[in-house]
Amino acid sequence: MARFAQRLCARRARQGRALFPAPVVVDALSRAEGAVLTDVDGRRIFDFHGNSVHQLGHGHPKVVDAIRRGMETLPFSPCRFANATLAALARRLVETAPGDLDKVLFAPSGAAAISMALKLARCATRRHKTLSLWDSFHGANLDAIGVGGEALFRRDLGPMIPGAEHLPPLNLARRFFGDDKPFERFADYIDYVLEVQGDVSALIAEPLRWTTVEAPPPEFWPRVKDSCKRHGALLIFDEIPSCLARTGALYACEQFGATPDILVIGKGLGGGIMPLAAIPAPAGSIARQTRRSDIIRTRTVRSLAPLGSRRSKSSKRKSDRSGEGTRTSRP
Ligand SMILES: Cc1ncc(COP(=O)(O)O)c(C=O)c1O
Repeated sequence: MARFAQRLCARRARQGRALFPAPVVVDALSRAEGAVLTDVDGRRIFDFHGNSVHQLGHGHPKVVDAIRRGMETLPFSPCRFANATLAALARRLVETAPGDLDKVLFAPSGAAAISMALKLARCATRRHKTLSLWDSFHGANLDAIGVGGEALFRRDLGPMIPGAEHLPPLNLARRFFGDDKPFERFADYIDYVLEVQGDVSALIAEPLRWTTVEAPPPEFWPRVKDSCKRHGALLIFDEIPSCLARTGALYACEQFGATPDILVIGKGLGGGIMPLAAIPAPAGSIARQTRRSDIIRTRTVRSLAPLGSRRSKSSKRKSDRSGEGTRTSRP
């Protein structure tokens, strides 16, 4: 371990404070390139973790070059202005997003995007309750922790946001719903909760949890989507780590044949360098019902982005897909 890290650990140990809740090796880095991190002592470390940010590896030259050019010409774009780079990104996201997700809001972090998605769902449905999964992680802001279900993040923080109801995690479906068709029973249970509550704004979940990477059977999410629709709740998929071709499709939800009402993407969206997240959502059914776009977006990141028309979107999807593999088998 680098001397820096040893000193840091020793100091925190003297103060009786753990560095992190789990045993941890901390090292000081001096370089990140491709798949390799280099520490201050020149040790090379293969980065198999990378916080799920590096679809393109560390410091991809094309990304670095594009960011450098952007920094030199338009280092900041105040939120009342649009700019060509953002418009091109929004258009590309709209063209390649599944279903009718044809409007994009940008955010400076995954947690901020989750927060915006929750606000959007509240404004669009005029309801505030949510359903989400125990043991899930949606970011470390207080509202994201509230819909998240990891005890580690909730401990010592007191009351969470009201109306955030929780369901069992996907990987424990068998434990709570039995070995006989556990996901069918789980989907029934969700339908029941949505019905008895009657006023849930959104169900938010990762389509497959990125830490346990256990996929539910293909019929699960389409059934849940139907239930949400029937009971007036929106389906929000948190694809912050799983987006942008991590599962063999551009978005993990495409593997399940269920397009959410609001998709939340992040991490690799910033090319492994910029903190950037986004929420593609349908302009027609959601954004138009939402008169308060001023309270949904963040202040410093330009968020309400230009649209691609549905026609250009579907034809672009088709041309993108011809010639290259479309859906692969489920992960
Ligand atoms: C599933 C999921 N949602 C949300 C987040 C939060 O993203 P950010 O760290 O950019 O706020 C993360 C981060 O690890 C995540 O894995």
